[in-house]
Amino acid sequence: MSFLVSLLFLQAASDMGPGTPPYARPGEESVDPYVADNRNAGASPFDGEGMAKAFHGQDGIRRIVDTMVEASSADPVIGEIFANHDKIRLKRTIFEQFCYILNAGCSYTGRDMAASHKDLGIQKADMNRLVEVLQRAMTTEGVAFQAQNRFLSKLAPMRRDVLQK
Ligand code: HEM
Repeated sequence: MSFLVSLLFLQAASDMGPGTPPYARPGEESVDPYVADNRNAGASPFDGEGMAKAFHGQDGIRRIVDTMVEASSADPVIGEIFANHDKIRLKRTIFEQFCYILNAGCSYTGRDMAASHKDLGIQKADMNRLVEVLQRAMTTEGVAFQAQNRFLSKLAPMRRDVLQK
């Protein structure tokens, strides 16, 4: 299946110009070509439907991601890191990643975490700030604290790929 997705991606990339994946939303900027694979999401999905329900399905996940990306971009501490990055793509790919990990019925088509954050200069304090922003977005959505923490523990090991080496 992931082989098929890769073929589709490569095909569409050649039709639409380099780096334009078939899943791109209107207005997305193109990125250098890469092979789409769920393993790029950086974590395996939860079993069963419990976590997807706790996050109110795809609609809830979309609200959380949109709020998180907007709040991060407007944040006095980390906002600058998000300046001049494609927020349309960011909202789509982070939505896909969260939806995939929460087992809410999506595939992840973005880049892996090391490639996505290379050269962004992200420090520990930036990571902690982003987690706070995400916690606020999940709380606003009404996600129970236990489910929030289960999800955050899936993201925690990704720190090593996100932080500046
Ligand atoms: C575990 C924590 C994190 C996860 C799961 C995550 C997830 C992602 C994903 C899925 C993408 C998009 C990949 C793609 O477009 O192909 C991305 C890109 C990005 N992330 Fe993160 N991220 C994390 C931490 C952070 C932190 C702490 C910051 C800054 C404070 C940050 C800033 C960015 C920026 C600016 C981009 C856009 C890069 C570009 O346009 O090339 N991320 N992240």
